[in-house]
Amino acid sequence: MKIHHIGYLVKKIEKAAAAFEAMGYVREGGMTHDEYRKVDILFLEKDGYRIELVSPYAPDSVVAGLIKTYKNAPYHICYETEDFAAELAALENGGCVRMDEPAPAPAIGGRRVTFLMHAAMGMLELLEPCAPDCGQEA
Ligand code: NI
Repeated sequence: MKIHHIGYLVKKIEKAAAAFEAMGYVREGGMTHDEYRKVDILFLEKDGYRIELVSPYAPDSVVAGLIKTYKNAPYHICYETEDFAAELAALENGGCVRMDEPAPAPAIGGRRVTFLMHAAMGMLELLEPCAPDCGQEA
């Protein structure tokens, strides 16, 4: 598995994006309004590291509870798999508890993701491989 991005919770996504840009981060694509998870998402990159700003836009967003605890902070690492089903099974056998059903991520070209929780590592996200014609790079 390869690290695809670090997920970063933020309360105000435009303010956060501007602050990261001032630090030298560059936007990758535009803002995505993810209606399944009720979050706005924006990717930025610096020095080969990709971060994902995630900001809830509704009280029943999947991260509405998390942001009350974490405020503005990194909260997951996303791993891109070569074999989604096999890596998912290995993680579940290795002590991870799956938090949701695999579902398309509109911010990542509709590729499926799922979130897992590990008692010692915290939260991680698993991303299915890019289809040959998806036009995205790892
Ligand atoms: Ni993510």
